[in-house]
Amino acid sequence: MSDLEILTVKDAQQLRVLRSRSRKVQGVTPKHAAFAQRMLETMRDAVGVGLAAPQVGVLQRFFVAEIPADEEDDQPAQTFILFNPEIVKAQGEQIGYEGCLSIPGYIGEVARRERITVKGLNEKGKPVRFKVEGYVARVLQHEIDHLDGILFTDKLTDPDTFQPVAVGQEEAAELEAAMAEDR
Ligand code: NI
Repeated sequence: MSDLEILTVKDAQQLRVLRSRSRKVQGVTPKHAAFAQRMLETMRDAVGVGLAAPQVGVLQRFFVAEIPADEEDDQPAQTFILFNPEIVKAQGEQIGYEGCLSIPGYIGEVARRERITVKGLNEKGKPVRFKVEGYVARVLQHEIDHLDGILFTDKLTDPDTFQPVAVGQEEAAELEAAMAEDR
């Protein structure tokens, strides 16, 4: 059961929270891990691929993300729970469409780094460091931006790319665009 409210830019007070800089997590506790699980459930229910703590009103540096399984390529779902994430290396550039659960009903085109090396702490508080690229790298950059109060609309390649989509279809449209690029 998911019971977390996802803040949106439509509400002035919620927007202020979304625009705030989050604080570092001082020690990952089982409480943090349990809360991250609730965020994952909330995100899945909303059919999103990522959710950062400030999006549910918690101004602490962590996020969850889940790239759905790709049955055609026999790829299992990839789940991320990361505290105090930092991009330590970035290469290349990619351009693609993004949506955000806090900006319901819209997508827009954003330039991101193609490959990134990320470090942080996992849900047990253990240091982790890994490389991701393409769509996964895009999702993680978007989530890490949330921790600094940055929204994808700040980074549009062109304001004209910002366009309405059916509510609840943002992530599907984004994923479809990403998959079309891969082909
Ligand atoms: Ni977002």
